[in-house]
Amino acid sequence: MPPTTLNDFQSSAAALDRAASDAFASAGSADTLEKARAEFLGRTSGRLLDLQRLVPTFEGAERGSAGRAFNELKTSLEARLDARRIELESTARASRSDVDLTMPARRQFRGAEHPVTLVIEEIVAIFREIGFTVATGPEAETEWYNFTALNFPPEHPAMDLHDTMYVAEDVVLRTHTSPVQIRSLQAGPPPIRVVIPGNVYRLDPFDASHAPMFAQIEGLAVDEGVSFVDLKATLTHFAQRFFGATRTRFRPSYFPFTEPSAEMDVECRLCKGAGCAACKGTGWMEILGSGMVHPNVLDAAGVDSEKFTGWAFGMGPARIALQRYGIPDIRVLYDSDVRFLEGLAR
Ligand code: PHE
Repeated sequence: MPPTTLNDFQSSAAALDRAASDAFASAGSADTLEKARAEFLGRTSGRLLDLQRLVPTFEGAERGSAGRAFNELKTSLEARLDARRIELESTARASRSDVDLTMPARRQFRGAEHPVTLVIEEIVAIFREIGFTVATGPEAETEWYNFTALNFPPEHPAMDLHDTMYVAEDVVLRTHTSPVQIRSLQAGPPPIRVVIPGNVYRLDPFDASHAPMFAQIEGLAVDEGVSFVDLKATLTHFAQRFFGATRTRFRPSYFPFTEPSAEMDVECRLCKGAGCAACKGTGWMEILGSGMVHPNVLDAAGVDSEKFTGWAFGMGPARIALQRYGIPDIRVLYDSDVRFLEGLAR
């Protein structure tokens, strides 16, 4: 190889730069680009290699300059090559013949919140107005939270395998949101005012009025000097806010975790109390169970039942949604047929 001057070396490098850049830019396919790569950047016979071989023929500082010039050239050509490769790939993708640009676009449909979600949000908002906050708890619960701490006697039929879905020996899919009463009391101390929306599970049939999974909203208010008057006043206020001016009534009931217990009915929305098929001729619709928190429940959760009293309720927003939207069968709430939601889009 004839000795050369640094000037000659640099102009060769510049010429090579132009030639390679042109070749890469004008390559119209991956194949031609690969040929251009082999010609210029090939590891055993590329034209850059010839230039590289000249570097050691320089002495001292000149060798350094030649080496740097060579490295810069190589790095910049490799970058150009990569950029062109990416360009060619994306052009190839865009022009793929199996993409039919004349196909009509898929129609967009507007989503809507599920009626049960709407009802839950509305109920929660009403309780927020009067100082309640929102709490949640796990759907898989220990028997202790779901039953024992709520004052269920050990042989209570609700604990039966026929009524309750067991996940493990001691763990159930909660049958109500009431275990979150215990969790809220433990997180205490009072005053406590919470509403607790969530899903619950029972081995119920799946028919027009039952589902094995459904939503509940629990409420809990515990403080010093809280009485049954607070329960009645608050739940009546809720019914008026939610249903508009309506009559309510409380009927004695029984739950292990409340004493005394009461169910609240509101005047049937459909017949205004006259009696119809929806209310089975009674003129009333039951919307919730409630009662004064049993002292054993407070004690189990570590809250002093000598000092504090409270009340609780549980209601089923799905039943309320059926009534509000005039839906005759609870199963349509869980069918996942989006046409049903379209009717509710706001
Ligand atoms: N947990 C009860 C049920 O699922 C409802 C309830 C909650 C009753 C709180 C009283 C107080 O039927």
